[in-house]
Amino acid sequence: MTHPIPMARVAGRGEKRIAGGHPWVYRSDVVDVQAEAGDIVTVVGSRERRLGQALFSDRSQITLRMLTRGDEQATEAVIGERVARAAAYRTSLAIDATAYRLVHGEADLLPSLVVDRYGDWLVLQALSQGMDRLVPLVVQTLVDVMRPTGILARNDPRVRALEGLPQEVRLLYGDVPADIEVREGPVSYLVDPWKGQKTGLFLDQRENREAAARYARGRLLDCFSYNGGFGLYLAGKCASVECLDVSEEAVSRTTANAERNGIDHLAARAVNVFDELRSLERDGARYDTIVLDPPAFAKNKASVPQALSGYKEINLRAMRLLPPGGVLVTCSCSYNVDEVTFLDVVREAASDSRISMAVVERRTQGRDHPALLGAPETSYLKCLILRRLE
Ligand SMILES: C[S@@+](CC[C@H](N)C(=O)[O-])C[C@H]1O[C@@H](n2cnc3c(N)ncnc32)[C@H](O)[C@@H]1O
Repeated sequence: MTHPIPMARVAGRGEKRIAGGHPWVYRSDVVDVQAEAGDIVTVVGSRERRLGQALFSDRSQITLRMLTRGDEQATEAVIGERVARAAAYRTSLAIDATAYRLVHGEADLLPSLVVDRYGDWLVLQALSQGMDRLVPLVVQTLVDVMRPTGILARNDPRVRALEGLPQEVRLLYGDVPADIEVREGPVSYLVDPWKGQKTGLFLDQRENREAAARYARGRLLDCFSYNGGFGLYLAGKCASVECLDVSEEAVSRTTANAERNGIDHLAARAVNVFDELRSLERDGARYDTIVLDPPAFAKNKASVPQALSGYKEINLRAMRLLPPGGVLVTCSCSYNVDEVTFLDVVREAASDSRISMAVVERRTQGRDHPALLGAPETSYLKCLILRRLE
């Protein structure tokens, strides 16, 4: 049954969350809904107070994703304007790269929408029922504003299954090749937007790669290197570069990217970083600069204790491979591990190894991946740059 005026009524706790600036209302805080999956609903609280409009999901634990507040209507014009504003903000950043995030979901007031730019092409992810319905409007706006050659939907993340949506990779506009050449600072990469991890590259680390280049030197070990992001960027500062990733595909792309850039002092190996760090330590290896950029070890709250022991292990082993004066760039992209907890794990790793380390920089995701104040989930990336003192 379609509902003429789709609406959702939220309990006091949901109302409080919305008032506090959080755009998500969980199922347990919704008391009544008259809407179809993916509708834009009017959200009301106590005494019929209108709280705004939201995307409704009949499957996800996140039942409502707020689009507007108070009386504002979430019209097509409002959504289109937000896409245009997100794009204009990225232009204002004057990013020294042809690949970057154009729309970052909640932090651009476009909940559950991701759009990444790779040169003349765009890659989009619509991660909720409501945003999935808005894709034609988003595509039309992107075509008008960005004039891309093609737009691809990388709608294969698992969270789509939780929404009852198909996991698929689909062409939405124009054409999109299997290899796109992009540039990040002085480095050129070939990116596969159809099959690469995430939408093709880990764009959220771009500014951390730039920062790491201020300290990198000597022998570099890039752990969890994917297509060679840190290794290639820091190669100009280092005498030798070793990139380690468990994925054969990522390793062969790293090698190909090194060749493209005329970097002949980089070697990439397909290994498990946990095993390799242990064996390098046994062999008494030494590196002047080490990067640790693992995948999110804590995908949910239940996996936090195991994730912390994983973070501790790799940090502890990396510190032991550094000589005094050596540099450690260590990252965590697990939202469930906050910065204070991550700092604590790194401190424990140093204290267990009786190594003195100084924090040189505490960093986060790049400015094209802003975090929405009020929604801590949108601030997920930690990147610490440390120096071994003795
Ligand atoms: C966050 S990404 C790294 C991104 C990369 N540093 C960059 O700047 O583009 C994590 C990488 O770790 C790899 N990986 C996951 N588990 C691993 C393991 N146990 N050993 C080695 N690599 C692993 C994945 O294949 C993935 O490429």
